[in-house]
Amino acid sequence: MDKILVHGGHPLNGTVRVSGSKNSALPILAAALLTRQPCVISNVPDLSDINYMLQILSHLGAHVERASGVVRIEAEKLKTEAPYEIVRKMRASVCVLGPLLGREREATVSLPGGCVIGDRPIDLHLKGFEALGAVSRIEHGNVKLFAKELRGATVNLRGKQGPTVLGTDNVMMAAVLAEGTTVIESAAAEPEVVDLANFLNKMGAKIEGAGTRRIVIEGVPELHGAEHEVIPDRIEAGTYLVAGAIMGGDVMLRRVDPTHLGALIDALRQSGYAIEVGTGTLRIKGHPSPTPVQLTTEPYPGFPTDMQAQMCALLSQTSGISVISETIFPQRFMHVSELKRMGADISLDGHTAIIKGVEKMSGAPVMASDLRASAALVLAGLRADGVTEVNRVYHIDRGYESIDEKLNQLGARIERMKA
Ligand code: EPU
Repeated sequence: MDKILVHGGHPLNGTVRVSGSKNSALPILAAALLTRQPCVISNVPDLSDINYMLQILSHLGAHVERASGVVRIEAEKLKTEAPYEIVRKMRASVCVLGPLLGREREATVSLPGGCVIGDRPIDLHLKGFEALGAVSRIEHGNVKLFAKELRGATVNLRGKQGPTVLGTDNVMMAAVLAEGTTVIESAAAEPEVVDLANFLNKMGAKIEGAGTRRIVIEGVPELHGAEHEVIPDRIEAGTYLVAGAIMGGDVMLRRVDPTHLGALIDALRQSGYAIEVGTGTLRIKGHPSPTPVQLTTEPYPGFPTDMQAQMCALLSQTSGISVISETIFPQRFMHVSELKRMGADISLDGHTAIIKGVEKMSGAPVMASDLRASAALVLAGLRADGVTEVNRVYHIDRGYESIDEKLNQLGARIERMKA
């Protein structure tokens, strides 16, 4: 297994180009199954999660070609079953359920298990499909869906922890080919949901309200091929902003949509960092004495759960007491014990982390447990004394395109050791 060695203490300055959004690209690639005609998706990041999704689409019968960030998918004929061997690698595989149900009126996909960030149920996805007239069964570890016909309906997708992003995507993808009108209440409003709706509308769907809590979908008999460019990855962008903050450097992000990063920009400004917002650019300048902050993760436009671990790394080295409450995935704190091994002073009280900033952390061998946790460990290592050895970096390769190269371009010293 590859590992990453982060040599701490090298200042960061310069420009970094943000890649296309993983969490937009995954459902958009799956949505290409909704038509027999070719779809061309650009700005697709080169990540292992994207590779898994393309493997699943190929398995389902789609013809997939990929070159320099552009993916062409033609799904003339489809199989409706995605087996465990390929689905188990990535929870987002569930987003083929909606397109298969929409187009073929049936789907069998291996049920995703939980993961280190907590229990990952799909009850709300199933609630939405059932509202449209599908029957669902769990059998031999698979979720099976079938429907004689799909009819528009009103469904509320609010769960205990708020709206569901992939659940909203999935129901939207099934409803575009249902008869009549579907209304999704308490829909997720994340930019990735809007990006998917924009792509579906280019394919001939009739979706209004994406980006609000109420999405209205007028079913159409069929969709056609379309071209689409995936939006920039707001979480990758946020991670590099936090890298700039940790090192007190002057870091400019290119090809970013600053409107998607409002909550993070507010939090960093509150802590004292100067952030300049341009058209498609963001620039952070360090602050000699940042102040602690209190944050609660919330559905968009609130502070994103996918930036919580990276903020823990920053606030661990920010003098004073910061507090982060995690409301989306209350158990998503696997990075805390690893940050503590590097000298962080963090205590957990239920779903809240109380972080006492320390002067200096020290490099140590640490274990990446999930994607954002691994990013947090790399960020902490940038400033820590000595060398931080991040093991199990396959987690980071799931969601960050060339993170070592991008940080090295900014002045970091990161080595990747091949297994
Ligand atoms: N939930 C349910 N029932 C469901 C679905 C979700 O109770 O049927 C709960 C979840 O357990 C969680 C909350 O609802 O407590 C929100 O989960 P959501 O469904 O929104 O998460 P997701 O759609 O599975 C996406 C991202 C995650 C991101 C979350 C929240 C993708 C591929 N994944 O997951 O991204 O954390 O939304 O914003 O889009 C990451 O990129 O590192 C990542 C984990």
